[in-house]
Amino acid sequence: MGGLDLVITGGTVVTAADSYAADIGIKNGRIAQIGTGLAASERIDATGLLVLPGGIDAHVHLDQPTSDGTTMADDFASGTRSAAAGGNTTVLPFALQIKGQSLRACVEDYRRKAQGNCHTDVAFHLIVSDPTPQVLGQELPALVQDGFTSFKVFMTYDDLVLNDAQLLDVFEVARRERALVMVHAEGHDAIRHLTRRLESEGRTAPYYHAQAHAQIAEREATHRAISHAQLIDMPIVIVHVSGRDPMEQIQWARGRGLKVFAETCPQYITLTAEDLRGLNMDFDGAKYVCSPPPRDADSQAAIWQGLRDGTFDIFSSDHCPFRIDATGKDTPRARTSFKWVPNGIPGVETRLPILFSEGVSKGRISLQRFVALTSTNPARLYGLYPRKGSIAVGADADLTLWDPALSRPIRQIDLHHGCDYTPYEGMQITGWPVRTILRGRTIALDGQVCSEAGGQELSRATSEAFARD
Ligand code: URP
Ligand code: ZN
Ligand code: ZN
Ligand code: ZN
Repeated sequence: MGGLDLVITGGTVVTAADSYAADIGIKNGRIAQIGTGLAASERIDATGLLVLPGGIDAHVHLDQPTSDGTTMADDFASGTRSAAAGGNTTVLPFALQIKGQSLRACVEDYRRKAQGNCHTDVAFHLIVSDPTPQVLGQELPALVQDGFTSFKVFMTYDDLVLNDAQLLDVFEVARRERALVMVHAEGHDAIRHLTRRLESEGRTAPYYHAQAHAQIAEREATHRAISHAQLIDMPIVIVHVSGRDPMEQIQWARGRGLKVFAETCPQYITLTAEDLRGLNMDFDGAKYVCSPPPRDADSQAAIWQGLRDGTFDIFSSDHCPFRIDATGKDTPRARTSFKWVPNGIPGVETRLPILFSEGVSKGRISLQRFVALTSTNPARLYGLYPRKGSIAVGADADLTLWDPALSRPIRQIDLHHGCDYTPYEGMQITGWPVRTILRGRTIALDGQVCSEAGGQELSRATSEAFARD
């Protein structure tokens, strides 16, 4: 078998199941041995550090076009560079179908954007915005066969929204092909109604985005998505859950034995709707405009409870970066109404530090929950396990060395994304990644990215959500 290429010695290995002291031996980019006293020509000393499975960010938006022609702040190079610096080894961006476009052409388009530019491994979810008979009957089944085993559907946004009949059609195909559907659950008509009312009252500042995207509209859509999934007998993931009300719907469904999975994100444990006020109800609030919007202290407490008790399976960033200048959020149109402010905030680099610091360091969740939420569960639900998402012999040597004692604030000037701000500026973090290793090669070290864009596109298996129990 020959010797090992690399050993990581003296660290504490952490998985979703346990923590233990061990050396990790790597050969040909895979974990070849876990034990004590391992030796190789190259050695990394991890004394005092945690050795975690590389982070998997299962919800990021990179290089997507917007309806008003502004550009997203990250392409695949800058977005995955930022991901690597933040302790991630795999990200799952979206291939967004534009209405009228073939899904196959859409996938090839995103592959071209990613090819040769990625610092982490990547795998695409499909966004289905135009479920024509051709898409439902031919393209989706063929793409699932090719390893695109998850797609996202939207219940709001003018250019993406599907009506209930279309949602049911997509669910039906997904059930037949065994693909997992991610649902953006916000009620379009309720949001439109509230938006018109607020605009007629002259309430157009970014702050009012949070009122237009009311939690009741999220609750209603979550229930509707769950009911449709139950009708079709289909597992779904409710993504970016913002607060207590939609969580209750998810818990209700689980109580009935339905396969409803749930994701939440850093913004829902750290920000509130008050942040959208900006400095003085001004445009600075646009920095926090995302959908669903951050809520309040009560919802933050509910989300923490859900992260602890298993209501949430996945913690993703929903990285969707727009600069706060004229190339991104600050367009003439966006100044006239919150409804034109591009939705989304950056966060791929700060996701793991925020959950570690606020969760593990503050004693709210265990190390095992941290690993489950940020790596193991996304790998299982999106068909990447056991190659990704754990530390085990045979798995890819995707590892993040973590210093649990390192304390410093989040600062825009230290980040690698293409955005010109972070919504978490100044937030004190205890626990940072110090080295990210992708298939045995160091891609980030002490906050510096040192990768030659060797990330690969991963083909995915069927989600474990379809496992027969
Ligand atoms: O505001 C957000 N989250 N924008 C990104 C698109 C989405 O809905 O996930
Ligand atoms: Zn969404
Ligand atoms: Zn998103
Ligand atoms: Zn909106």
